[in-house]
Amino acid sequence: MFHHLRQDINSIIERDPAARNAWEVLTCYPGLQAIVMHRWAHWCWTHGLKWLGRFISYLARIVTGIEIHPGATIGRRVFIDHGFGVVIGETAEVGDDCTIYQGVTLGGTSLHTGTKRHPTLGRGVIVGAGAKVLGGFTVGDYAKVGSNAVLLKPVPPGATAVGNPAHIVQKEALNTAANPFAAYGVTPNGDDPLSKALRGLIEHAVKQEQRIEQLVVTMKAAGLQCQAVPECDKLNSDQLNKLVE
Ligand SMILES: CC(C)(COP(=O)(O)OP(=O)(O)OC[C@H]1O[C@@H](n2cnc3c(N)ncnc32)[C@H](O)[C@@H]1OP(=O)(O)O)[C@@H](O)C(=O)NCCC(=O)NCCS
Repeated sequence: MFHHLRQDINSIIERDPAARNAWEVLTCYPGLQAIVMHRWAHWCWTHGLKWLGRFISYLARIVTGIEIHPGATIGRRVFIDHGFGVVIGETAEVGDDCTIYQGVTLGGTSLHTGTKRHPTLGRGVIVGAGAKVLGGFTVGDYAKVGSNAVLLKPVPPGATAVGNPAHIVQKEALNTAANPFAAYGVTPNGDDPLSKALRGLIEHAVKQEQRIEQLVVTMKAAGLQCQAVPECDKLNSDQLNKLVE
């Protein structure tokens, strides 16, 4: 138990630039207190003491402003930063090293008991302040959910989802196991996805042009009548790439 507590405290110090020492984290971080109380509540819930589990969860809510259903599965080193107004539903699963900010709901959209109604967060997921993640789908490892997003669909690993309803803005894994945590989910040098797409199209067009030129040469060598591509019609990839920078 103390080993896990130490791990939790260290992970908070690593992820919150405002955290000064272990004593401050232990006594002043409601996210940590809610996770510790959830462990007691979850133990009761899974050992047939359902009412006691609910009651401990209710006490944790009074003390911290964070409501975690005792049935929810919470991984190691999960950091609920600030935390006020966080609600985590009964069938939710939160992977190791996730970071959840204040006002987040991991909620359900169906009333059927006994089914998986709440989301699963993979490892290292960051959920921004006020985001609502609603439904029994999975948010992939190291994905990010923007603040105030309303997420209703699965998110692939490493992707970033923002908006209401949330859509994917970055598909590649900027936040990965090798680069595990970006404070507040913001990564430096995150290139604009539209420019990346345009640069990909330009590269593709250049390759097509080269193929056509090769075809013309081959056809001429085979004695077929064929017009070469006029110089003025050729693609100026350098100029186009500068325009989309
Ligand atoms: C979603 C988030 C993780 C993206 O960070 P990022 O990877 O650096 O991405 P960018 O800032 O380059 O944004 C990418 C695009 O998403 C948009 N975007 C970013 N966050 C958004 C949000 N919360 N809602 C709507 N759109 C958002 C940007 O405007 C940008 O759009 P554009 O390409 O049309 O210009 C980050 O903005 C975020 O919301 N982090 C949570 C922070 C938080 O909750 N802090 C609480 C501290 S107490």
